[in-house]
Amino acid sequence: MENREVWAILEKIKDLPTLPGVYLKLNRLLQDKQASLENVSRIIEVDPALSAKILRLVNSAFYGMRSKCSSISHAIMVMGFNTVKNAVVSVSVLDTLSFKGQLQDFDIAGFWRHSISVAVLGRQLAEKSRLVPGEDSFMAGLLHDIGKIIMFIYFRDEFTKTVQKMQEAKCSFADAEGEVAAIDHVQIGAYMTRKWQLPENIIGAVAGHHYHVSSSASSGLVECVMAGNALSNAGYRLDPDDYVFETHIEKALTPLLVETDSWLPQALDEIEAACAFFLEKK
Ligand SMILES: [Fe+2]
Ligand SMILES: [Fe+2]
Repeated sequence: MENREVWAILEKIKDLPTLPGVYLKLNRLLQDKQASLENVSRIIEVDPALSAKILRLVNSAFYGMRSKCSSISHAIMVMGFNTVKNAVVSVSVLDTLSFKGQLQDFDIAGFWRHSISVAVLGRQLAEKSRLVPGEDSFMAGLLHDIGKIIMFIYFRDEFTKTVQKMQEAKCSFADAEGEVAAIDHVQIGAYMTRKWQLPENIIGAVAGHHYHVSSSASSGLVECVMAGNALSNAGYRLDPDDYVFETHIEKALTPLLVETDSWLPQALDEIEAACAFFLEKK
C-alpha cells in the first residue's frame, strides 16, 4: 500500500495514542523562541506526576549526573531546554504506550527493552562518532519500532500474518511484513511521529531505519539508529561489511562498529540503567 493510503486509514482511527498536552505546549513555546526558564518549567510543573517522573529520570543512574536536580527549572539550567523536552517525550511515550499487562500475545517488555537498547546504542554511536547530537539518536532509537505496537493493536491480522511468516521463513519482522502484510511498521511509525509533531529529523530516522541509503546529504542520524538496531538484534555483534555508508559517515561510524570494546561495555551498563528506570513496575 502507498504511504498515502496507509495514512488515510490511520487518519480514520479515532483513539490512536497521543502525547500529553504538556508536550505540545512545550513544543510550541520552544519553536516560537519565547522560551524562558520560568515559562517552560511552569508548563511542566502543571502536571505534578510528569514533573516528578522527569526529576526521577534526570536524577537516575541513567543520566549519571553528579549533582541532583531539585526542580524542573534546576534541571533545565543544568541540562538545557532540549534535553528536558526530550525527557518529557521519553517519559510520556513510555507511559502512554507501556500497556503493562494489557497486551496478550505481545511481548511489550521485550519490545521496550529492544527500543531502549537501540536508543542507548544509537546515542553512544552518535556521541562517539560526533555525527549528530546523542539525544536525537536516543529519541529516534526509542521510537524507531513504535509502528509495531500500533500494528498489533489496530491491524491485528497483518501483524499475525507477519509473525507467522517470520517464524516460517526465519527472517526479520521487516522482511516478513514486506512479503505478507499490506501495511508496515515503518509507515505507521512515520505517521505517528508526524502526528505527535516530533522534529523532522526524528520522523526521518523512524521512516528510514530499515531502508535508508546514505548519501552526501545524510547527517548520520539514520545510520546511528540502523547500526544500533542491527547491534541489538544481533546480540551486540555485527559485520560492518553488511553496511554501506557514504564516505563521511563511514569514516566516523565504521571504526566504532569494528572495534566495540572502547564503548560497548559502558553502553550495556547504560541500557541496564535505562531499563531499570523506564520499565520499573509501578
Ligand atoms: Fe524496525
Ligand atoms: Fe528494531
